[in-house]
Amino acid sequence: MRSILILNPKGGCGKTTIATNLASYYALRGRSVALVDFDPQGSSLDWLAVRPENRPPIHGIAGWEKPVRIPRGTDCVILDAPAGIHGRSLSNLVRRVQTLVIPVLPSPIDLRAVEHFQSELMHLGGVLRKKVKIATVANRVRENSSTRLILEDYLRSLKLPEGRKLPFSTYLRNSFIYLKAAERGLGIWELAPSLTAHERDLWKPLIRWLNSRWSLPAEDA
Ligand SMILES: Nc1ncnc2c1ncn2[C@@H]1O[C@H](COP(=O)(O)OP(=O)(O)O)[C@@H](O)[C@H]1O
Ligand SMILES: [Mg+2]
Repeated sequence: MRSILILNPKGGCGKTTIATNLASYYALRGRSVALVDFDPQGSSLDWLAVRPENRPPIHGIAGWEKPVRIPRGTDCVILDAPAGIHGRSLSNLVRRVQTLVIPVLPSPIDLRAVEHFQSELMHLGGVLRKKVKIATVANRVRENSSTRLILEDYLRSLKLPEGRKLPFSTYLRNSFIYLKAAERGLGIWELAPSLTAHERDLWKPLIRWLNSRWSLPAEDA
């Protein structure tokens, strides 16, 4: 079963946006998708609650309530992490998954915070042992600003211990399309292609990576 955790202890960086869009992406491709919301605010489940019945179904699970049971037959599980997660609850979550996607806002404070967080992650046994694969996604980037290049350089320069390869990095644009899709319980893939062509293009590298063996631990690849 494919498992992808969207993670960053900071709130508001785009975890739920990325989790719901990935769930919609895989559901549209006919996969049986579970979306586990670990944030007691329940934003991912709120998104599911307004999802039209005629759209490909996604099974929502309130991960903060009780031990999570993924329905039999699920082939893709997307986990939306809560803000403020550290220590044991962090390692319990990370241990369940093959792949981490870490959204980061392009501000100096957020970049420094993610650097600290990466080093915390690297000290989790499960990450090193299982070689969980990591992508950083710069989110809400303003394409025409110089911060984009600075940000990309920065993300590419993050170093991991033990000679591991750098995490895969990409970026998504700041766009009203995400709000439009979210208010209707949809992913951007479910809006008119003419409205979303650029956003879809920006997602391509991340989707390609997620669908490749490079985003899987060696034992699952
Ligand atoms: N790329 C984006 N462009 C525009 N708005 C975005 C984008 N990503 C997230 N948002 C908005 O920013 C807010 C916080 O995003 P959210 O996904 O809820 O973050 P988190 O789950 O990390 O707290 C939401 O209102 C969301 O719609
Ligand atoms: Mg959220």
